[in-house]
Amino acid sequence: MTSPTRRTLLKAGGAIAGFALAPRIAFAQSDRIESLIAKMTLAEKAGQLSCFGDAIRPPRIPFNPNAVSSNAAKQLADIKAGRIGMLFNGVGVSGARRAQKTAIEQSRLKIPLVFAGDVIHGLATVFPIPIAEAGSFDPDLAMRTARAAALETTAVGMHWTFAPMVDVARDERWGRVAEGSGEDTYLGQQMAIARVRGFQGSDPTDPSRVAACPKHFAAYGAVAAGMEYNTVDISMETLREIHLPPFKAAFDAGALTTMSAFNDLDGVPASGNHWLLTELLRDQWHFRGLVVSDYTADEELIAHGYAADGRDAAKKAFTAGVDMSMQSGLYNKWLPDLVEKGEVAEALVDASVRRVLTLKEQLGLFDNPYRSMDYAREKTQVAMPATRALSRESGARSIVLLKNDGDLLPLGKAPGKIALIGPFGDDKANLAGPWAFMADETIGVDIASGIRARLADPAALTVVKGSEVEKPIAGGIDAAVAAAKAVDLVILAIGEDQGMSGEDQSRVAIVVPPAQQALAEAVAAAGKPVIVLLKHGRALALSGAVKQAPAILACWFLGSETGNAVADVLFGAVNPSAKLSASFPNYSGQEPYFYDHRPTGRPAPDEGDQAYKARYRETKNEAMYPFGHGLSYTRFTLSDLQVDRELAWDGSLAASALLTNVGKRAGTEVVQLYIHDRVASRTRPVRELKGFQRVTLAPGGTQRVRFTLKRQDLQFWGEHGWTVEPGAFDLWIATSSVGGLRGSFDLARA
Ligand code: NOJ
Repeated sequence: MTSPTRRTLLKAGGAIAGFALAPRIAFAQSDRIESLIAKMTLAEKAGQLSCFGDAIRPPRIPFNPNAVSSNAAKQLADIKAGRIGMLFNGVGVSGARRAQKTAIEQSRLKIPLVFAGDVIHGLATVFPIPIAEAGSFDPDLAMRTARAAALETTAVGMHWTFAPMVDVARDERWGRVAEGSGEDTYLGQQMAIARVRGFQGSDPTDPSRVAACPKHFAAYGAVAAGMEYNTVDISMETLREIHLPPFKAAFDAGALTTMSAFNDLDGVPASGNHWLLTELLRDQWHFRGLVVSDYTADEELIAHGYAADGRDAAKKAFTAGVDMSMQSGLYNKWLPDLVEKGEVAEALVDASVRRVLTLKEQLGLFDNPYRSMDYAREKTQVAMPATRALSRESGARSIVLLKNDGDLLPLGKAPGKIALIGPFGDDKANLAGPWAFMADETIGVDIASGIRARLADPAALTVVKGSEVEKPIAGGIDAAVAAAKAVDLVILAIGEDQGMSGEDQSRVAIVVPPAQQALAEAVAAAGKPVIVLLKHGRALALSGAVKQAPAILACWFLGSETGNAVADVLFGAVNPSAKLSASFPNYSGQEPYFYDHRPTGRPAPDEGDQAYKARYRETKNEAMYPFGHGLSYTRFTLSDLQVDRELAWDGSLAASALLTNVGKRAGTEVVQLYIHDRVASRTRPVRELKGFQRVTLAPGGTQRVRFTLKRQDLQFWGEHGWTVEPGAFDLWIATSSVGGLRGSFDLARA
């Protein structure tokens, strides 16, 4: 393999559309696989369909409930006995070699193991959490960070990542919004495609690439009330239009595997759902890859009340379409018996075993069982300077400038004395964000270090904690206020810690924790200009002094280079260009809030009498900062909208507008195309994103930004499936999901 250089990792790799569309992935019949299946006992078949957390090289930080306890000796014995097909979440070449050597030298059939792991936004070098990176509206960037993550993942003995998480999530109370691409389906599709390609490349046998696993199939992002693991009750329209398209896009991009979700779906748990995993996934979509259950999701059919016991759960999950059972051990325990008693067809077991072995073959493991287990790469290709530079670039490109009254930002060369106040100022423990359990903490750059490195006089920066994340510090506020009074400028680094989002971290109120809100109020009262740097894994409902601060940057969790990325934006080395991938509501109680809601029969008018209109007592149902919003240090204007009057049934429609940089700096704007179907046989969203482009302009520069639409872009799920109805459509070319230039067109009849 050619060693990636700084150039290959950092250069923009061209438009996603230009990427090889047909990855070299073989699903052809394999004599090697067939002859193995012919030799396998039922127990060995069940073994290939079973995977477990890696006990030979357990993760430093434990996570996932400990369902089946194991130890290295027991696991090695199980590998020898052919009872394990895959191990996950273990890091390190030497442990991987040890396990693999046992499989290929001591097990009867010498079938190699495959090693998987949750590499969601980087491994040792951590990139921004996916919800943040999606805000770059730059699939090429997402592809490059996924590629870089694959490089580190394969340098430490893994072949398969449980990513990308492509669940569209529209309720910010749910902690796992952090792992996805936000509230919009179209953006989610683009990011899903980019990440699959970044992980897998065009040739998965390449030992620097990993198999991708778009998850969690399906509709986990729609858990009721944003409560983790909750039930999903969903219309077919919403499932088909909102939640499934990113999966379909990821599969079409060549994703080799998927993971069945924890949640139930209209009364049938996803991991026991024959319609979902077989009729839709296999029969309609022709997905040929491997379905692995989420962690003990097969066993959880019992708690769902969908299976009577472990045997019943194994039978229901397997016959629904879960090929591989994660962590419960139920397939090892029950599949042979179920086949022997005639309750599960052996041919069905063979089909699943074939998928596991095909994945191993696609990854090149039969020919090269020690692929991605190279001691030299483990030393040289983890946390490389080029990868860290990409972390910094993606970090700065993920920061959203929510507000910048009076052009307080960027800071000049001599910003005077600064007080950096809040629990995240010099904190290194919350740089990575959720799902970065293999982060190399020694390379993390905190905010204080990033800022200090920019100051001519590093002593001009005072750092005061002021508060813990969720509880006050005795005397903390007094110290912070005193510091604020003594300086020219306050930077408040506040928000959520990384344990407050991710799996198992739903919140009822998506606010800055009260202890920090109190700190912000007291510090703001000191009267100095305040810049808020928010740390968060979800969109937040801001209030009081935080909301009123003249400048607010949504910084999410940016990863290893947080401090440098933040300083790049604060001091203007990088002109912010990210947009929100998830709307910030005015109140937590508006959740689930998303821009592409359907109209009601009584929409609230922009101005005037609101009585008997769709709204809350306290607020209109609009966002504080909507999806697609994000400012720049320069100003852009859009003008001269041109839209074809008609879209012919088999034709394409051109829409364009002039973007001009009317400010004094070079900058990048994300120009967004939205549509609305005025009258249809189903109520249609008030707006839907259908395209976006990042355009970089010098001061005074102008460019016509062109989009095309086809009939297929206007389709929706109607009474008889996908449909497009002729008639009038509204169209906007805009810089946010609110406002913009508005036009219209007609879709002509066939
Ligand atoms: C449970 C999570 O839901 C899933 O995303 C993850 O991949 C597995 N645990 C394995 O760690």
